[in-house]
Amino acid sequence: MSIYLDNGATSYPKAPGVGEAMLDYVNNVGANVNRSTYATASTAAMILLDTREQLCRLFNFDDPTHVIFTPGMTAGLNMLLKGYLKAGDHVIVSSMEHNAMMRPLIQLEKEGVEFSRIPADRDGIARAEDILPLIRPNTKLVAVMHASNVCGSLLPVKEIGAICRERNIPFILDAAQTAGHYPIDFKELGLSALCAPGHKGLLGPQGIGVMLMDHEFAKSVEPLIAGGTGSASDSEELPPYMPDRFESGTMNIPGVYGLNAALTYILEKGVDHFRAHEEKLTQRFLDGLKDIPVRLAGTEDMAKRVGVIAVDFTGHDNAEAAFALEQMGILTRCGLHCAPSAHKTLGTFPQGVVRFSLGYASTEADVDGALEAIRTIAR
Ligand code: ALA
Repeated sequence: MSIYLDNGATSYPKAPGVGEAMLDYVNNVGANVNRSTYATASTAAMILLDTREQLCRLFNFDDPTHVIFTPGMTAGLNMLLKGYLKAGDHVIVSSMEHNAMMRPLIQLEKEGVEFSRIPADRDGIARAEDILPLIRPNTKLVAVMHASNVCGSLLPVKEIGAICRERNIPFILDAAQTAGHYPIDFKELGLSALCAPGHKGLLGPQGIGVMLMDHEFAKSVEPLIAGGTGSASDSEELPPYMPDRFESGTMNIPGVYGLNAALTYILEKGVDHFRAHEEKLTQRFLDGLKDIPVRLAGTEDMAKRVGVIAVDFTGHDNAEAAFALEQMGILTRCGLHCAPSAHKTLGTFPQGVVRFSLGYASTEADVDGALEAIRTIAR
């Protein structure tokens, strides 16, 4: 029996009903949406609408037409950054960002977009006020991750949102490591856009992501992908209306069916339920690490973190430690987690860490089993 502690990479198991919903679509529905009017096409269209409405409820967002389905988190961030930024614009990110944010920005830098990083400390904690000296007259965007995929630290997004609002700077949130198990209120945070993958905390399948866009901001983003939408087919121009403008081509409908089942489960239980479970197990993990000679990279303060736990087996090779863990049935992710800047911030570059990421199905026994294995290796 293995212990799956790689939920930061993708959640497993998926929420109850996800597989069945996808199978039902493929076997019994099968129709495309927005193209035809027969009954099964309408059934599928209603599931899409229902899923947009579920996401509105989850993120306290008003308008299902501005909930866009994407192929994933990375695609969503590329669509936003490349569709909005122009040569001469300046963006503020944090020093903890994942390459889903940084690689598009590095591409854009070659076209004249500039960026600055809010510096986080060695625990991955950033202060919102450190944005202030970075703001320039050409700062057109603040785009940050909500929680680190390396060490779980939360960024102070409420305070960052307030600064952005005061200065009228659009604010994009990457919720890859928080959506589904940490409360996110689109309106309260004053977001312009939010991206999340369907397959992590939202407990759905891979290949489906979501992007929520505020009305004003949506108008300033040029769609990265253009094509057939099944609407306004008399024109070779993209339609001006949402969500069609950002949903060209046939989408991942089985993915939406799976996501719909996952969101039904999440909304029924409530985000607070998942957060409480995460807090309880993460605290148990952190307490257990205290008497083991390894370094926790990241904060011990549970209020400032999620259940992504970075362990540096100082004195051992982290990849070898991860391999030894795997031999004991503990499944983790080692290395640099597509986030070199975060590792430089945490002082774990280039050796990386072994990352243990908890999920809704993780148990106290899983945590104890992982701690026992860490103890054995560190001895
Ligand atoms: N971004 C995912 C991770 O951190 C895949 O593992």
